[in-house]
Amino acid sequence: MGYGLAGLTYVCLIFSLRSSTSQGLDILDPGEVVYIHIQTKGVVGRSVILECGPTLPDVYIWGFTVPGTENIRAVVYNFGQGPRLQSLARSLGDLNVISNTASLFIDKLPLAAHGLYTCQALYDTPQGAKLIYYYVQLAVLVPVSKPYVIVSDSSPVEGTPVWMRCGLENGTSPIRYIWERENRDGALANLAEGSVNLLNITSVSRNHTGWYRCLASNEVNQQRSDRIWLDIIYGPDLPRIDITPYSVTERGYSALERETVSLMCQASSNPPSQYVWFYNNSQVFTGQQFTITKILRMHTGHYSCLAQNTYLNTRSKTTITLTVYYPPDGNPTCTILPTNNYTDLALWCSWEGGYPPASLYWTPTLVSDSEQGYSLSNASLIQPGPSTTNNSIFTCHGSHVALDAPYRCSISTYLPLGKPRCFAYATRNNEYLMLSCSWEGGFPRPLMWWVSNNGDTYGSSEEEANILVLRSSSALSGKGFTCHAAHPLSAASERCVLRLEAPVLVTHRSLVSVYEGSDVQLTCVLKATYPATGITWYNNRKKLVLDTPSKYLLYHESAWSNLTVREADSEEDSGQYWCSATNAVGGAEVPITLLVKRYPIPPNVTISKIMYNSRKRMEVDVEWAIRGAGDLTGFIVEQQRPQMPALKTNSTMSWLRVVTGIEPDARQYKLVGLEPAVTYTFRIMAVNRRTLGYPSEGRTPADPPFNAYPAVIGAAVGGMIVATIGTMLLFMFIVRNRNRNPRLHDFFFGMQRSQSQENINYPEDEVVSRSQSEGHIEEGAPSPSPGPAVVSGSPMSAEDLPPTGDNEDPVNVTITVMASS
Ligand SMILES: *[C@@H]1O[C@H](CO)[C@@H](O)[C@H](O)[C@H]1NC(C)=O
Ligand SMILES: *[C@@H]1O[C@H](CO)[C@@H](O)[C@H](O)[C@H]1NC(C)=O
Ligand SMILES: *[C@@H]1O[C@H](CO)[C@@H](O)[C@H](O)[C@H]1NC(C)=O
Ligand SMILES: *[C@@H]1O[C@H](CO)[C@@H](O)[C@H](O)[C@H]1NC(C)=O
Ligand SMILES: *[C@@H]1O[C@H](CO)[C@@H](O)[C@H](O)[C@H]1NC(C)=O
Ligand SMILES: *[C@@H]1O[C@H](CO)[C@@H](O)[C@H](O)[C@H]1NC(C)=O
Ligand SMILES: *[C@@H]1O[C@H](CO)[C@@H](O)[C@H](O)[C@H]1NC(C)=O
Ligand SMILES: *[C@@H]1O[C@H](CO)[C@@H](O)[C@H](O)[C@H]1NC(C)=O
Repeated sequence: MGYGLAGLTYVCLIFSLRSSTSQGLDILDPGEVVYIHIQTKGVVGRSVILECGPTLPDVYIWGFTVPGTENIRAVVYNFGQGPRLQSLARSLGDLNVISNTASLFIDKLPLAAHGLYTCQALYDTPQGAKLIYYYVQLAVLVPVSKPYVIVSDSSPVEGTPVWMRCGLENGTSPIRYIWERENRDGALANLAEGSVNLLNITSVSRNHTGWYRCLASNEVNQQRSDRIWLDIIYGPDLPRIDITPYSVTERGYSALERETVSLMCQASSNPPSQYVWFYNNSQVFTGQQFTITKILRMHTGHYSCLAQNTYLNTRSKTTITLTVYYPPDGNPTCTILPTNNYTDLALWCSWEGGYPPASLYWTPTLVSDSEQGYSLSNASLIQPGPSTTNNSIFTCHGSHVALDAPYRCSISTYLPLGKPRCFAYATRNNEYLMLSCSWEGGFPRPLMWWVSNNGDTYGSSEEEANILVLRSSSALSGKGFTCHAAHPLSAASERCVLRLEAPVLVTHRSLVSVYEGSDVQLTCVLKATYPATGITWYNNRKKLVLDTPSKYLLYHESAWSNLTVREADSEEDSGQYWCSATNAVGGAEVPITLLVKRYPIPPNVTISKIMYNSRKRMEVDVEWAIRGAGDLTGFIVEQQRPQMPALKTNSTMSWLRVVTGIEPDARQYKLVGLEPAVTYTFRIMAVNRRTLGYPSEGRTPADPPFNAYPAVIGAAVGGMIVATIGTMLLFMFIVRNRNRNPRLHDFFFGMQRSQSQENINYPEDEVVSRSQSEGHIEEGAPSPSPGPAVVSGSPMSAEDLPPTGDNEDPVNVTITVMASS
């Protein structure tokens, strides 16, 4: 604008103001005053420019109206001589006019500068003077000061209401508030925003824990408060228990025996929880982590974790069940049992004692695994019997969660070898009959049962062996019994058969005749018997025959028996013998008649001459002859002598045999050793083996004609004593060796074996003599009845004998001595 206003010295400052909506310079009519309204904002303490047109007017005047008043008061004017500041300007801050303009620059803006500024500007234009009114509304804004947070409770309990206020001293409205929270992790969140400075939480949760601050802002600036910590008190929550090593089952937690098990408890709480552990309701530990080193099966049970908030004095508890797994003892055990009536095998495997139960299964198997009783603690498997081969091996495999390696057991099944075997036997005295059946070596053991031949089953079924006990009865004779045996590996049942039979005895010769003196054998044959039995013999006096070597010899075979009667005697041994056999189902007896025949009577004998050969009357020569024919085997001489005076009343005098065994050809004999004072009578008889002939008549020896030779007689007596001692020694030899020299023995002692004649005891002879005399000899006791046996010319008593050396005990000895042997 190049128009100057120099000519205008005074401008009436009073104008009637017209409001104008236009802000630009819009001159409709050059004579008309233009009104321009401007809004300007300034901030306390800072600077602001209040504009009054783009160019410097020729004349201007700034006025100020305090809000709420209508008075305009001048601040500065310039009528061409430079701006003139009024006193009012000092209260409006550091106010200056920007050079070459009419605009005001206010620095250090005070709050009092707020108000309406009016710039009346006069321009001298070619079209004339022009007047423009600038209405500048200056708003002085106050920046927000630093806010602060007031909280109703900085440690509220979860669930209670909490409010927070954002406090602010200065700041021009409108003011916005923003609530910020920084949680523990440092994450920032805007919680609320608005014109209200209150954050109202009706129910705090732990999630509200964190740093809080508010942010206040207005047109000018924004400010953050310091942060404050909101600590929410809560808990404890329900504790959570973590177990290491972790192993969970449908029934709770599990651990393996001897493991180290750690129980960790976690319960959210502020302040942090205090932990107490309980086992089966008794306190065992204080602390968050309860560790059991080498847990044992007895530690199974309920474990509880109690969490406590000591500030709130609240508590909560969680209980878990912990089961300690432990392996079964030892190894699995296998067995095989028969099943389905002994047609199939039941394989049984058991492994008890562990927890949880061990898993078991069998191999090999003909059935699929799913059919197998794959089970816990014991496993069974049905194996078809007949399709199983002998000596098949089955293995049971066991595993357990507490064991690293699998365990197993094996078992074999065996078919017994061969067939069942049966036999019968009886108890003592044949009271009971036992039928025994066995079939051994099988596994499982076979089943055995007895069936009679009419189809009845007897007794019970037994395994491997079955003994049927029956009361003995002849009704059982002829009956058959079958023992059946069933084994799973055998398709068909096996059997064995018994037939009971009473004994049947036969003899080849029921009449046996022999001559006396010889041995005779009686034979009995057992043609049938079951159960087996032996043959017993009864002699002609119905006495049970025992094996006595002197008289009877028994010879047994299984089916026959021989009884030997030794040296049969016609009177003693003739008669009916019985052989007998008895078993539990009957008995049999067979008689055998034994006839012992005598030999024919030998010829009669007559003594032709009998005479002492000297006057000493100690020896007699006798001669005889036979009359008639007949067999003879020898001669016997008997003597008779007067009895002792005391016995004289007995008129019959007994004959004593003094010499036997005289050869059948002999017809003469010298009798020696006679007592000269005694008057003897002698007789002779012939012998045919055992049969004695008629005796000759008794004769007393006659004295010889006188013919004495004393010297010769003396020598003869001496010789006789020597001969006597020699004879005695020979005699002792014969007695001791009588079994080896029976004939010599018999010769001296006769066929009748008069025991009294053998009563000679030598210590080394004791066994023999006892067995023969059946213990009747007592050492030191008088020997029985020596009288009748003592015969012959010079009987000697033991006192006459020479001592026999080491024989210490006195022994009564009776000896028959014959000087002529
Ligand atoms: C608020 O304003 C007053 C007056 O201007 C001043 O005295 C005070 O210091 C201010 N407060 C803050 C926090 O700025
Ligand atoms: C917070 O809000 C609740 C419910 O709206 C009200 O009862 C309570 O008075 C408020 N607290 C404050 C401090 O305004
Ligand atoms: C806290 O926050 C978590 C996740 O942010 C939420 O699952 C839970 O329910 C909250 N708890 C409360 C009491 O509000
Ligand atoms: C603990 O309780 C369990 C389950 O009732 C029981 O089996 C166990 O024997 C108990 N232990 C003791 C030591 O009482
Ligand atoms: C068992 O088997 C035997 C033959 O081995 C037979 O006699 C018996 O009747 C069977 N028992 C059953 C119950 O099948
Ligand atoms: C079955 O095998 C076993 C062992 O090898 C054997 O002892 C038995 O005799 C056999 N049985 C048969 C019937 O072959
Ligand atoms: C048994 O006696 C018979 C005749 O009685 C005889 O043939 C058989 O040889 C005798 N046996 C024995 C071993 O003596
Ligand atoms: C033998 O003697 C007996 C009796 O003395 C007499 O009976 C018998 O006839 C005699 N025999 C002969 C063959 O003389």
